[in-house]
Amino acid sequence: VRKPFEGPPLDRLRRWLREARAAGVPLAEAMALATADGDGRPAARMVLLKRLDRRGLVFFTDARSRKGRELEENPRASALFYWQPLGRQVRVAGPVEVLSAAEAESYWATRPPGSRLSAATSIQSAPLGARSELTRRRREIERRLGGAPATRPERWLGFLIVPEAVEFWSERPDRLHHRELFRRKGRSWERTLLSP
Ligand SMILES: Cc1cc2nc3c(=O)[nH]c(=O)nc-3n(C[C@H](O)[C@H](O)[C@H](O)COP(=O)(O)O)c2cc1C
Repeated sequence: VRKPFEGPPLDRLRRWLREARAAGVPLAEAMALATADGDGRPAARMVLLKRLDRRGLVFFTDARSRKGRELEENPRASALFYWQPLGRQVRVAGPVEVLSAAEAESYWATRPPGSRLSAATSIQSAPLGARSELTRRRREIERRLGGAPATRPERWLGFLIVPEAVEFWSERPDRLHHRELFRRKGRSWERTLLSP
């Protein structure tokens, strides 16, 4: 399973994700996403990696959420995966771009109707007086839609992390772990081994 010296980092991330799924890791595509506000105060939360392509890592969220506002002030992020059964961790960092409304729209259409309705109901991270406010608003919107699927709120968008640095960590005996850092240098990657 552990062949540390092959392929550019995104290929390897794709392979590690595949191997984590094959090993039965629940939500292998879940990643901790760290952002910071304009003053550099950090915050982390989990999100789901929904696409991994040549451009980078894509997740979807509410642009008005805390993370959305932080990314507007400071469009950089770090994402972290950990797959315990494989003893593997991957850290990705780079600038973040907002994807087009068309891309958000095509992913929105694949979401279950109940999730779409909830996302349309909730302005993510906004304070809520009581949970009942949320459920009442959801019922109201559902009634207004009269059975039609909820349309995508403009604030619900895809975000792309453009990887500038990708670090692979593999567990090794006696905690003499293996770490490889790839840094983007123009169109190629520079690889450095790091002490564990
Ligand atoms: C496993 C897991 C996956 C999640 N995936 C997402 C996601 O893809 N998008 C999202 O907006 N929130 C997701 N959440 C909720 C976020 O962790 C977070 O509570 C929410 O996005 C608000 O974060 P913020 O206030 O920092 O913006 C997920 C939570 C968990 C536990």
